Amino acid sequence: MADVVRMGVVGAGSIAIRGILPHLSQEDVQDRVRLAAVCDPVPGRAEAARQRFGVEKAFTSYEELLEKGDVDAVTIASPIGLHYEQGRLALDAGKHVHFNKTMTTTVAEATDLIERARAKGLKIVASPGEMLRPHNQQIKKLIAEGAIGTVCWAACGAAFGTYHEQERVRQGDDVLSNIDPSWYFRKPGGGPLYDMTVYALHALTGILGPARRVTALSGVRIREREFRGRMVPCDADDNTLMLLDFGDNLFALAYGTAAGRITEGFSGSYFGTKGSIIGLKLNGEPFDYPGREIAMQAPNNRGNQWLLPHVVGPHREIEEQHVFEDIMQLVDWIREDKPTIVTAEHARHVIDIIESAYRSAETGQTQELSTTF
Ligand SMILES: NC(=O)c1ccc[n+]([C@@H]2O[C@H](COP(=O)([O-])OP(=O)(O)OC[C@H]3O[C@@H](n4cnc5c(N)ncnc54)[C@H](O)[C@@H]3O)[C@@H](O)[C@H]2O)c1
Repeated sequence: MADVVRMGVVGAGSIAIRGILPHLSQEDVQDRVRLAAVCDPVPGRAEAARQRFGVEKAFTSYEELLEKGDVDAVTIASPIGLHYEQGRLALDAGKHVHFNKTMTTTVAEATDLIERARAKGLKIVASPGEMLRPHNQQIKKLIAEGAIGTVCWAACGAAFGTYHEQERVRQGDDVLSNIDPSWYFRKPGGGPLYDMTVYALHALTGILGPARRVTALSGVRIREREFRGRMVPCDADDNTLMLLDFGDNLFALAYGTAAGRITEGFSGSYFGTKGSIIGLKLNGEPFDYPGREIAMQAPNNRGNQWLLPHVVGPHREIEEQHVFEDIMQLVDWIREDKPTIVTAEHARHVIDIIESAYRSAETGQTQELSTTF
């Protein structure tokens, strides 16, 4: 067993302040992971985060964190469009990497990271680990056992709404609470597919297996958004409908829209010759899954996150438990050589679906997917 993993947190924005730093500063994980460094280019933000969460070192430059932070691994919590470049630099510097979703925006970038990690014997965990959730494993099992007969089609997705404009860490006046979300609406890396639909696509492909083809319509529906009285121009597609082919005429509809949902949660809806699974219901009745009675006790619909293996004790009271879980998957893998199902290959397949959907919308042509997991 290796020593305590020294973690660097890249970006001190919403997910770091609300989730990563509060979880990793808890007493109960100090025997496995230590907050060694944090960086953020906004003046004073990394230092304020260092002080609030007891991180050893703060930097305004990522390169400096890699050079002087004395870290074994990083969790990349910056805007999605920066993830590939930052991941590459980390691997080249010999660091293991946890990627907050989405790992990269293209398959070529994902493949490059996977190959660099393999060449150096480094580990990548790429969020979101949706298949760690017992209810998703149960849906997979129910379908495999024929609970809904022959599955004919499925649907999954998410809507942007105004979630990011309204996050509480963006409404204040100090450097840890005035975090600008504009990048969520800009290319590269903006839009609901890389941000939200990515959860649904991880669940859908985790449950049905890899997809083979995609066709899509996509564009920008809301061209300007208001954030704290300021207008933010938007050029990242925020309205995408895609059709997926899983082979043998099994199809799915997946969406990432500016507004409006037709599915519940991120697990997806599955329709077969003998019934349906919609959200957490089989033919209209809640289905059982390991830990369901514990999940039912949690406030604010956090229940299924309580069933993740590391979400115990104080972690049940802190936000963004699934992100903490994915980081701990990396920590266990480094320390105990215990591999995880939250793989870069699964993330790459979902990235393939998203990138191919955009290409399909641009060209009007159905795209063959080139990856599997
Ligand atoms: N906000 C959420 O609800 C949420 C939930 C789960 C996962 N995530 C993921 O977490 C990641 C970050 O999202 P967020 O909402 O925290 O974004 P954010 O905009 O709130 O924070 C991003 C931070 O990164 C900093 N940054 C910018 N350039 C940087 C650089 N070159 N190096 C280091 N830091 C840099 C910004 O200054 C900012 O403080 C994304 O991958 C997102 O998908 C977000």
